[in-house]
Amino acid sequence: MLVLGIETSCDETALALVDGGVKVLGTQVASSLQLHQRYGGVVPEIASRAHTELITCELEVLLDSAKITPSQIDRIAVTYGPGLSGSLLVGIAAAKALGFAWGRQMVGVNHLQAHLYAALMENPGWPLDAPMIGLVISGGHTAVIEMQGIYRYAVLGQTRDDAVGEAFDKVAKLLGLGFPGGPEIERAAIAGNPKAYRFRVPRIRNGSAYDFSLSGMKTAVLYKIQEMEKKGNFTKDISFVADMSASFQSAIVEEVVDKTVKACQSKKIARLLVGGGVVANSLLRRRLGEVCGGLGIELAVPRLSLCTDNGAMVAGLGHHLKPVPLNFLTAVPDLRVEMN
Ligand code: KG4
Ligand code: ZN
Repeated sequence: MLVLGIETSCDETALALVDGGVKVLGTQVASSLQLHQRYGGVVPEIASRAHTELITCELEVLLDSAKITPSQIDRIAVTYGPGLSGSLLVGIAAAKALGFAWGRQMVGVNHLQAHLYAALMENPGWPLDAPMIGLVISGGHTAVIEMQGIYRYAVLGQTRDDAVGEAFDKVAKLLGLGFPGGPEIERAAIAGNPKAYRFRVPRIRNGSAYDFSLSGMKTAVLYKIQEMEKKGNFTKDISFVADMSASFQSAIVEEVVDKTVKACQSKKIARLLVGGGVVANSLLRRRLGEVCGGLGIELAVPRLSLCTDNGAMVAGLGHHLKPVPLNFLTAVPDLRVEMN
């Protein structure tokens, strides 16, 4: 079955064609990122307007480059949440229009579940109904999840404050780096010493052992910058930015790996799926590989292009889900990972 996937939950207008739930025949991603950069974060109105302007052209380019005609497409899968409501609506409206025009069925896909499915696309041999632990870390979400394959999800822990990607973005902003902050911090960290600064990871009281609290780390960076500012202009101090980036990145990676692996061990589940934009981070990928390898946990990690928002993960998961009536689907901006 050939599925067209549409993803517009944030600033990426992403479309892809996936055959059989795993084989990517074509993918197209346009981002309105540059339009948001001067504001230091995604502006919802700008994002939805950009989706409207881009989506038709993106579809034409996708079909042309993959040499696929609409008659070969069996169904349309679209992200319906969570995300920015205006942005989601553009994708859903496009999916409905194409569904009516082409006479095809439509599937609504949960964006967070799709991020986890992206890892399964690299490991098509894994049973789709087996117990797994899932870790979603993106700009808006951080969750450790107990999964019964792709069909049932129970959140074991989540963030109390900032999402992991959000923490990267905020610390990057404090350090005078660009947006999105994750790749900027990763780049700056190359020249830095990860042991230059120590971060205390807060103990979580009255909650899950797998909950995260990351805003303290951001405040620690802020205090250090204020201290540096008293001594001069810190942004010109390249070695400070490099050392702080490396130290912050290392601390957050260790915290994420530690909690996720503990969930695998205490639930006695030796399969781990990870997904979301932060999984593009190479230190995280390396540490997950090392720690899981040492403990005998099987690890599935998406290829880099399927970590950040993309249409392939939506088409891939959409292959396995039940279609919904065309006029039924609506945007659910606060959709939770366990909801379908
Ligand atoms: O999944 P995604 O594309 O969008 C959301 O669903 O939020 O994730 C975007 C997030 C941003 O916060 C960005 O800073 C982070 O992923 N990110 C990274 C890296 N690449 C993207 N964080 C750390 N290291 C990276 N290399
Ligand atoms: Zn995402």
